[in-house]
Amino acid sequence: MPPSTPYQILGQEGVNRLVDAFYDAMDELTEAAHIRAMHKENLDEVRQKLKDYLIGWMGGPPIYQMKTGTVCLTDPHAPYAIGPKERDQWLLCMDTALERIGASDELKEMLKIPMFRVADTVRNRDSSEPKPRDPNIIAVG
Ligand code: HEM
Repeated sequence: MPPSTPYQILGQEGVNRLVDAFYDAMDELTEAAHIRAMHKENLDEVRQKLKDYLIGWMGGPPIYQMKTGTVCLTDPHAPYAIGPKERDQWLLCMDTALERIGASDELKEMLKIPMFRVADTVRNRDSSEPKPRDPNIIAVG
């Protein structure tokens, strides 16, 4: 029987390698410098959290949910301005990571649409441009 989930292809070890390659790419790619700057300097904690998250999301054990009680990503991302540009930078890091771990075409195809959907769900605004200043508001102080 062909694998029906990404987790069946990658296993826990494979997801861990993917997430390490993902944050390494975020650290290195100048195209991702904007979203890298949103993160803490030390990525150890978020590396572990994304590993936990993706293991469950890809069809493995629900580790993130067991630790946090939820799989909802809205609250942890609420403090950050995530528009289409930020989403696409995130997806670029993921595509780079998939290349770097030598992911099969089958796996890439399996992830393409769902990965876009989850990244687009994390997006919390329609535009990545800063809001224009309202000329009716006079700055105080
Ligand atoms: C769309 C663009 C995205 C941006 C710009 C972004 C950015 C961030 C930032 C800045 C943090 C905080 C990290 C820190 O404290 O250093 C974070 C946390 C996190 N992100 Fe994202 N993220 C994005 C999409 C995603 C997606 C698609 C997923 C999952 C598939 C995800 C999973 C997580 C998880 C699990 C955490 C930790 C949440 C917690 O504290 O429990 N992110 N993200």
